[in-house]
Amino acid sequence: MSRHLAVFGMQWGDEGKGKIVDYLARSAAAVCRFQGGDNAGHTLVVDGRRIALHLIPSGVLQPDVRCFIGAGVALAPDVLIGEIDTLGQQGFDLGGRLGVSRNCALVLDIHRRIDAAADRRAGIGTTGRGIGPAYEDRIARRGILLGNMFEPDFRSRLGQLYEYHNFRLTDYYGEAAADVEEQYRTCRQAAEYLNQYITDVSGALESIDSAGGGILFEGAQGAMLDVVRGTWPYVTSSNTLPAAISFGAGFDFRRIDCVVGIAKAYATRVGEGPFATEQDGEIGRRLSERGHEVGTTTGRPRRCGWLDAGALKSGARLSGVDAIVLTKLDVLDGFDEILVSLGCDADGAPQYETLPGWDGEVAGVRRWEDLPAGARRFIEHLENLTEVPLQMISTGPERGHTIVRVNPWEG
Ligand code: GDP
Ligand code: IMO
Ligand code: MG
Repeated sequence: MSRHLAVFGMQWGDEGKGKIVDYLARSAAAVCRFQGGDNAGHTLVVDGRRIALHLIPSGVLQPDVRCFIGAGVALAPDVLIGEIDTLGQQGFDLGGRLGVSRNCALVLDIHRRIDAAADRRAGIGTTGRGIGPAYEDRIARRGILLGNMFEPDFRSRLGQLYEYHNFRLTDYYGEAAADVEEQYRTCRQAAEYLNQYITDVSGALESIDSAGGGILFEGAQGAMLDVVRGTWPYVTSSNTLPAAISFGAGFDFRRIDCVVGIAKAYATRVGEGPFATEQDGEIGRRLSERGHEVGTTTGRPRRCGWLDAGALKSGARLSGVDAIVLTKLDVLDGFDEILVSLGCDADGAPQYETLPGWDGEVAGVRRWEDLPAGARRFIEHLENLTEVPLQMISTGPERGHTIVRVNPWEG
């Protein structure tokens, strides 16, 4: 019987989802993205080589794994083409393995222009990738889907969309208008290039399931960036929780056997918004340096702080998390004391528990028995706090720096 996994971030993104999806994809027939766009940045490290992915599922480095981009994804054709080309240059051939839904909302140049202009006023600290404005267009039913690029009225639809957004850009934001002709030309070229990848993603997933193949659904961003459940308005513009798989991939999420939540052993956040456990002094600096906390997509430094176990527990309940993968535990090597928040009081102040650090190193450890005893106690304590088993632990950026206590495909 085939099993299907959902992998999603439980914090504010950048939990190390890409690394874990790459690892778990070795047992998958397919990996599918179902929301978000190239605001996501997933770094994989294999034999010392770093590969950054934004739109293509993180299963792509595993040969023979099929990769799908579902209708819930906001798709920038230029970014996708660039990514396919870069992977090709790095020796990863996608031939026949990539399928993209024709119902993805298109992200165009003008969306990036609007994103930047709007964020200068709103101060969310977006990635500037045009994701919010592209989803806005979808919800407002004026946007353009990937499949519309192949239809005869594409030029006129694009014209109408540019007319609308150029009005916003010039009259409201006081900026220069964007050039629709240039966008039309690049869309025509992109359509020609991407035609070969257009797939009925929902149907393809159904066939893989029927044939007994396991499917891994790869979430982007994280639970606390969810547009409804997150720290609104400091959120992204999509639903980031596994429930979004149903409409974003066209696959009933109740058929998923194991929901895997990825959590960093501490917390980070890029952009603005509340972050109760943030540490802006020496501790924050140390976490940032040891964890190399710089954004994959924008190069911005990530804000750092302590883990909020209370938020993990309620997030796990909300999304039916069966297993947690704890990443970047090695970053806490050398700390004498590690703080963990149990949640916030009525004034929003975190209620901390102080735990001892451990002697010895977690970095690079591959087996549970080889972890320092103190680190094992730390993990077991987090299991008690969150009431979810911590089935895997990541001890470094490399694929092999991974401890599997229970394989989510099996248990
Ligand atoms: P994602 O967006 O959730 O896929 O995470 P990112 O790739 O944006 O950020 C995670 C960063 O941490 C990447 O640079 C990874 O290579 C790195 N990383 C992942 N797991 C570990 C780990 O266990 N230890 C360390 N030190 N780095 C890790
Ligand atoms: P991955 O998949 C971390 C954040 C931005 C900003 C907010 C809104 O790599 O974990 P947006 O451009 O989406 O409108 O920005 O969301 N954000 C992320 N932060 N990781 C991500 O993706 C993110 N995608 C968006 O920094 O605060
Ligand atoms: Mg990231």
